[in-house]
Amino acid sequence: MSATSSPAPGAVSRIVILDFGSQYTQVIARRVRECQVYSQIVRCDLPAKEIAALQPRGIILSGGPASVYGKDAPQPDPALFDLGLPILGICYGMQLMGHHLGGKVEHSARREYGSGLLAVQERACPLFRGLPAAIDIWNSHGDKLTKLPRGFRTVATTDNSPFAAIEHPKKKFYGLQFHPEVVHTPRGKELIANFLYEICGCKMDWTMGSFIEQICAQIRERVGKDHVLLGLSGGVDSSVAAALLHKAIGDQLTCVFVDNGLLRANEAEAVQRLFGDNFHIRLKTVRASARFLSRLKGVTSPERKRKIIGNEFVRVFDDAVKSLTKAGTKTRFKFLAQGTLYPDVIESVAIAGNPAALIKSHHNVGGLPKNMKLKLVEPLRELFKDEVREVGAQLGLPKEVTLRQPFPGPGLAVRILGAITPERLRILREADAIVVSEMKASDWYYRVWQSFAVLLPVKSVGVMGDERTYENTIALRIVESQDGMTADWVRLPYELLAKISTRIINEVKGVNRVCYDISSKPPATIEWE
Ligand code: XMP
Repeated sequence: MSATSSPAPGAVSRIVILDFGSQYTQVIARRVRECQVYSQIVRCDLPAKEIAALQPRGIILSGGPASVYGKDAPQPDPALFDLGLPILGICYGMQLMGHHLGGKVEHSARREYGSGLLAVQERACPLFRGLPAAIDIWNSHGDKLTKLPRGFRTVATTDNSPFAAIEHPKKKFYGLQFHPEVVHTPRGKELIANFLYEICGCKMDWTMGSFIEQICAQIRERVGKDHVLLGLSGGVDSSVAAALLHKAIGDQLTCVFVDNGLLRANEAEAVQRLFGDNFHIRLKTVRASARFLSRLKGVTSPERKRKIIGNEFVRVFDDAVKSLTKAGTKTRFKFLAQGTLYPDVIESVAIAGNPAALIKSHHNVGGLPKNMKLKLVEPLRELFKDEVREVGAQLGLPKEVTLRQPFPGPGLAVRILGAITPERLRILREADAIVVSEMKASDWYYRVWQSFAVLLPVKSVGVMGDERTYENTIALRIVESQDGMTADWVRLPYELLAKISTRIINEVKGVNRVCYDISSKPPATIEWE
């Protein structure tokens, strides 16, 4: 499970996606999986033999930022076109197919970007089965195909492109100049579904129920009678990993939950209740708040805070493992489980100008001790986030866990600007609890990406009764986002903002002012730090 290539998930239909550096490659993979077909992203230059060894039912060539004639244009192994497998080329993928099979690609005088209308001529083409003669599509390309390769014919056109969709019916090769995977092509998912079911003959056999059964069997086989350790943070990924491993190996799993003193209100109790009392998972909660807070005393630099917290976490975890190993005479941990997800393990080639490569996640929850010499178990490494949530739901985790908003590894430390003291932690914790409870009560909590309070290092004058006050300021950060990379502030109803503000000022001692952050990311970030 920790090998670079994913294990074959049983005998399910598989689609291989060659990644030419499009920012939408993962979206293609998700669309395929939404059709309940397993998809796997591979490097665009993977040798055809290795692709064949994966036994896919079909291949998708992603888009990409390059031009097929460019000096560094990423190229597939040409033997790919002799595998006898159906191929769908999207945008750059279609141009590559045209280029390799004898067509002509030219730089287009007019760059086609944005929405367009597709006119379908070959209504019998299986890719367009069930679709109307005109569909809305979304384009993003400079180059375009100007001469069809042999054996191909036009299926659909746009005003600007006589070859917006093409097919080689005998070989089952299809090319789309536009992007069927994006939401701006509203019927695009049906096109992808047609490719999967009608052309590749895939079955809808990738379900989270079948995944759970298969992965549990794999975990049991790999772990045998040994013990597995898991650092439980209470976040979605480690929680689902815990529930999954517990289903597979029961008491051979031990979870360690570190209370670093930087958690939100009642978090440690909630983890204990759910995993300890409810799931009966072997859970060691380490109360390490004093250790963390003493190391953080007087520290104001966000970078130093992060470093201190990361280092201390490793030490605390290490101590916990030692004491667990001592306590249980037979408990020798051979494996360390981690909630690594598919987007973290996709191996792609660095392609010049590839925006997706630049926006790779820059945050990761605190690293674990490297010297532990434990083998890794990563049961979620084949899954996208929404699949992880579904696995969690199927394993009986409540939506408070599976649909939980992201929370940074260093906890409230990144939301207290300036020095961290028990008093300032209290203020932020109480304010944050009000934000969460009002967001949940108004049904907004699950509609936004994140909603939280930030304690600013600013005091200002206020008035309460006849008294002048000089107290703290809370900023509210409530954003919508797809993946945390870009974000916008949520246009929350004024009434709800008013309620949150009034409650914080009335109920949290030490706060006399609440502000709403109306900056988008970029240029601002989501956390303030
Ligand atoms: P920024 O503040 O960079 O945050 O816009 C983007 C997303 O990442 C989360 N975040 C973190 N997550 N450890 C984490 O696990 C961290 O140190 C960290 N810092 C920010 C943030 O909450 C947002 O969802």
